[in-house]
Amino acid sequence: MKISVLYFSEEGSTKTMAETIVKGMVSVEEVEAKSMSIDDIDRAYLKESSCVVIGTPTHYASMAAEVKSWLDTKSVKLNLGGKLAGAFATAGYIHGGADIAIQNILTHMTFLGMLIYSGGSACGKPPIHLGPVAISSKLDEFTDLFEVYGQRMASKAKELF
Ligand SMILES: Cc1cc2nc3c(=O)[nH]c(=O)nc-3n(C[C@H](O)[C@H](O)[C@H](O)COP(=O)(O)O)c2cc1C
Repeated sequence: MKISVLYFSEEGSTKTMAETIVKGMVSVEEVEAKSMSIDDIDRAYLKESSCVVIGTPTHYASMAAEVKSWLDTKSVKLNLGGKLAGAFATAGYIHGGADIAIQNILTHMTFLGMLIYSGGSACGKPPIHLGPVAISSKLDEFTDLFEVYGQRMASKAKELF
């Protein structure tokens, strides 16, 4: 089963955390996962993916304009409806609005007809509410959280598909 982790990253933090999620995903048996910049998507791979996760840096307490633009103009042509979906963000500060950035993406995913999931509090510790957030100055501290998130998304995708 294939999973796509899409991201926009200006300075590398969101890319690093997308790769960390992939690491967690491929630890689940029979799961293949790939991280791709929204500027360079393998469309065939995306089409075959049962689950799609999208990541953004937090810009002005919102998703980055580049992600919003991609969602508005490109995502609608990719038939993402019916796929399991999740979102994550990186941020400069814990109070910087990353949850809002994630919610922005989840809202758009709902519009696309995707099946929103994060694991929430149903998977025990660590609870991941809307989606995982990493602070760019200390990414290493969030490695375990992002790997666990990847495992949970992949396990749910396997269960559903
Ligand atoms: C234009 C701009 C706006 C930003 N606004 C916020 C913000 O509102 N809240 C926050 O926590 N961090 C903010 N940041 C910091 C980034 O979210 C953070 O450094 C992020 O991890 C960068 O991701 P990247 O390395 O993938 O580009 C901003 C950074 C930039 C460049």
